[in-house]
Amino acid sequence: MRPKITIIGAGNVGAQCAYKLAQRDFADLVLLDIVEGVPQGKALDMTQSGSIERFTTKITGTNNYSDIKDSQVVVMTAGLARKPGMSRDDLIHKNAEIVAGVVKQIVEHAPQAVLLMVTNPLDVMTYQALKVSGFPANRVLGMAPLLDAARMQSFIAELAKAPVTEVYAEVMGSHGDLMVPVPRLSTVKGKPITELFTPEQVAGLVKRTTDGGAEIVALLKTGSAYYAPGTAAARMAEAIVRDTKEIVNSCCLLSGEYGLNDVCLGVPTRLGKSGIEEIVTLKLTPEELAALQKAGAAVKNLCGILK
Ligand code: APR
Repeated sequence: MRPKITIIGAGNVGAQCAYKLAQRDFADLVLLDIVEGVPQGKALDMTQSGSIERFTTKITGTNNYSDIKDSQVVVMTAGLARKPGMSRDDLIHKNAEIVAGVVKQIVEHAPQAVLLMVTNPLDVMTYQALKVSGFPANRVLGMAPLLDAARMQSFIAELAKAPVTEVYAEVMGSHGDLMVPVPRLSTVKGKPITELFTPEQVAGLVKRTTDGGAEIVALLKTGSAYYAPGTAAARMAEAIVRDTKEIVNSCCLLSGEYGLNDVCLGVPTRLGKSGIEEIVTLKLTPEELAALQKAGAAVKNLCGILK
């Protein structure tokens, strides 16, 4: 029997995540949404591309939580997306309510699953999911730090005129204004970008990375990014199900790491079948650590609003 992955929310991000996973052809998928017909229609459409793409993934579209039974990973994308002029934090109350409702269903129907959060504001929603689910911390994580690193990598590659495959970017912190891109640890062919670019160019890369989502929202005008977010979620779900043990930056609960406690924030993590198998502690400069702690304090503050 193939492993099973559920994607909650058949909107832009959820559908992209499902389609990426379908093409990878290693797990059966359930696509669930509150709107009748949408997950069923998208599942049917994706399934019909299987004979063209040559994949055999079984994709079930549903509105019924009993279908998520035995899922190894549940990817949570349900919720409102940003419109121009909105910050991710503007979504907090409505999305917290949606997350609480959905997570209760996940606990009832797929109690062993690893829960991969995508809904924004990501750090707060990951903490909300952790608290509502009562799952152990290793089984609740958030997607965005991988996305933020991917964005920074693409901007570095463009500036360095290098293939993105030769670029590494270290991005920690929150998925928002207090993101912590770390130029010192970001490289092109192993060389730090701080040695390749001027301080102004580095500052420009950091700013563009931090504003990466807003840049796309401003262009789209009717919603937020979904190709890279959906792809990032699919990659993480695959790493968990296939137990790859790779190091991917993700949002997870910190309990003393980096001097932070009881807050979910982006840090390097090792992913495997039990979710987060290790939190990697990088040696940061006092300034980098201070930026991370500032992000932690801000996220904690936002979580406090929900309590
Ligand atoms: N249960 C299930 N699905 C729901 C629920 C719910 N309670 N509430 C909303 N949905 C579904 C919607 O019907 C819609 O299909 O969630 C989907 C959201 O899709 P989009 O509006 O296209 O939003 P998307 O761009 O996919 O973003 C989803 O991910 O990146 C984040 O900020 C983004 O929080 C947003 C989320």
